[in-house]
Amino acid sequence: MAKTSSKTAVNKKISKELLRRIKKSLKHVYAPYSGISVSAALYCSSGTIYTGCNVENSSYSLTMCAERVALYKALSEGEKDFLLLLIYSPDVDSILPCGACLQVYSEHAPDIVIATMNAKDEFRFYPIKTLLTQPFSFMK
Ligand code: THU
Repeated sequence: MAKTSSKTAVNKKISKELLRRIKKSLKHVYAPYSGISVSAALYCSSGTIYTGCNVENSSYSLTMCAERVALYKALSEGEKDFLLLLIYSPDVDSILPCGACLQVYSEHAPDIVIATMNAKDEFRFYPIKTLLTQPFSFMK
């Protein structure tokens, strides 16, 4: 179930910065095969924002989603606690992460809130647990 932007704990200053960064990251999309641009901005509890865009490959299955690019950048810089992931595509209205991204985020950021945005900059918020209720795990 989606919640409106006014109910989120993320303040206006952060939202504005996430928007600025997500739109900047769109410029680096490499999607010659699908023609679909996706950008993600990951807000960590350290205060740092990591962005990602989709990077495709002529061997299609090697394509990496924007969401995972952002997460892997953050993890590889030592980030461990994640608050919010904002995703945007000018080609898919209110885009949400694919199942593979939800599985990966469930492991590293089980309590994250995922925000999506439409072309009018209107947000919807989803706790990850509402999008993937039963992630795979063999450690539990
Ligand atoms: N894509 C993402 O980057 N994130 C998603 O959540 C869904 C799909 C990308 C992968 C591919 O480059 C293009 O969108 C079409 O699937």
